[in-house]
Amino acid sequence: MPIIDVIESVYQQLLVALGPEGLSRSDEARKAYGHDETEDLCFQPSVVARPASTGQVSAVVRICAEHNLPITPIGGRTGLSGGALSVHGGVALALDRMNAIEHIDEQNLQVTVQPGVITQVLQEAVAAKGLYYPPDPSSRGSCTLGGNIAENAGGPRAVKYGVTRDFVLNLEVVLPNGEVIWTGANTLKNATGYDLTRLLVGSEGTLGIITKAVLRLAPLPKENRLMLVPFASAEKACEAVSATFRAGVTPSAMEFIERDAIVWTMQHTEGLPAQLSSEPGAYMLIEVDGDHADAIMRECEAIVTVMEKHEAGEVLFAESSAEKDALWRMRRSVPVSVKAHSVYKEEDTVVPRYELPRLLKGVKEIGARYGFSSVCYGHAGDGNLHVNIIKGDLSDAFWEHELPKAIREIFALTVSLGGTLSGEHGIGLVQRPYMDIAFNAAQLNVMRAIKQAFDPQGIMNPGKVLP
Ligand code: LAC
Ligand code: ZN
Repeated sequence: MPIIDVIESVYQQLLVALGPEGLSRSDEARKAYGHDETEDLCFQPSVVARPASTGQVSAVVRICAEHNLPITPIGGRTGLSGGALSVHGGVALALDRMNAIEHIDEQNLQVTVQPGVITQVLQEAVAAKGLYYPPDPSSRGSCTLGGNIAENAGGPRAVKYGVTRDFVLNLEVVLPNGEVIWTGANTLKNATGYDLTRLLVGSEGTLGIITKAVLRLAPLPKENRLMLVPFASAEKACEAVSATFRAGVTPSAMEFIERDAIVWTMQHTEGLPAQLSSEPGAYMLIEVDGDHADAIMRECEAIVTVMEKHEAGEVLFAESSAEKDALWRMRRSVPVSVKAHSVYKEEDTVVPRYELPRLLKGVKEIGARYGFSSVCYGHAGDGNLHVNIIKGDLSDAFWEHELPKAIREIFALTVSLGGTLSGEHGIGLVQRPYMDIAFNAAQLNVMRAIKQAFDPQGIMNPGKVLP
């Protein structure tokens, strides 16, 4: 598909459907909605549609279907795989005006939300009622639930509570022909027909547009403890991960951060414990939560025992909620700090957690062979390692022509260890060339047939996911 402009007569139809407050083709709007957080990429749409209701989304989609116009659904523009980039121009369909929390159902521990609700806004609204929505991406202050669902976002708490998919009960979706469906039922169990809900979660806007979601909630844990564990060697830190779970403990977060990421992040974070230094090769940030302080203490002791067996330095417990906040602020600002340091490419590798040390070692070996440095961090408890390849002084020619070969090697290693290409950032635009490493022709054909069944015209987020 080439880059497609929206012609004047179609623009006028969209204007009738959305009103002037819901449509723009100004340079400013096209630029603002032409990027997410993926590298320094920018692909501008021809127009930006900002519908205020499911009916308006459906109307826009019907107009696009009639004129074969590409549609790119857009959430909070914090994505890291380029899923929200309008690579074929056309209509950017931003859901940011549909941002109501419609109903918190305290009887059933459920909530109904529109897709433009900011994740942290939902978390705070349900916390005020003693409830918990655990999926917790670093960008929670600006990412939206629609985007989280489209990409199946994870974050630190996934290790104990699960990823976004585990919290989605039912979705209202506008199909690529403009029809509106619900994918399932608002029940905890469901053995009725194909599971369209799970299919739509993580479909990255290629099968339809999520206009409403019913999400499951958990009771808010009453207590937590947060510890920071230094390791002289990053590999040793990774070895301690699977040992922790084998000891019978499930932390509510188990985050790994390599030295460079700590150093770059410390400079921008106030209120950190004085003991934090740039000496250790890596840190692990480990949280345990629950309702009983004594049970949490016992789990912390078990974790400390495992850490000591893996050559950890002195374990530092956050003493106050201010110190906890500072440590989490530091962790959440790692992606921004890496980005501020250098142009970079991020690979969202994930392996069964016991293979984490082998993945880390292999990534460093590939880097040494090709001549690039990387800084790794991520959700160690899930075996999910964000490999950030730093451009630094590398030439543009290397970056464009040699690096993709190295990335192929990283993914081949990941798959050989039983893992896959993305744990939580999605395939989007930038990982699409590597799908053949994770899937053979038969598997890709099943996916293509699903895409064809939903979107025979190929207008819904074209250029994403499937090679
Ligand atoms: C994080 C994002 C980049 O873990 O996934 O901070
Ligand atoms: Zn992450």
